[in-house]
Amino acid sequence: MTSIPFDSLTAGKPQRIEVDGVGVCVARVGDEVYAVADICTHSDASLAEGELNGFKLECWLHGAEFDIRDGAALTPPATIALETFSVARSGDTVTVTKN
Ligand code: FES
Repeated sequence: MTSIPFDSLTAGKPQRIEVDGVGVCVARVGDEVYAVADICTHSDASLAEGELNGFKLECWLHGAEFDIRDGAALTPPATIALETFSVARSGDTVTVTKN
């Protein structure tokens, strides 16, 4: 598990962290925080460098979109869902855990 301060997350701006040695893309939408695998299921691109529009996370490399809430692949060329991670918030601390 990895803990980060809630204030370090900017709404709408994904951020890459490491959880047990795995890259995780963490994103804040309003006051909610979501976490999915950082590497796109289409090829080797960091999704934390992509764009977040509402709950849609867009890969910067070929434009696939994923739902940040459940990791679902929404648009091609990605067809495989992202792994999701558990997020728990306690006060100013956000803890991300591998499922
Ligand atoms: S690497 Fe993400 S869409 Fe191709």
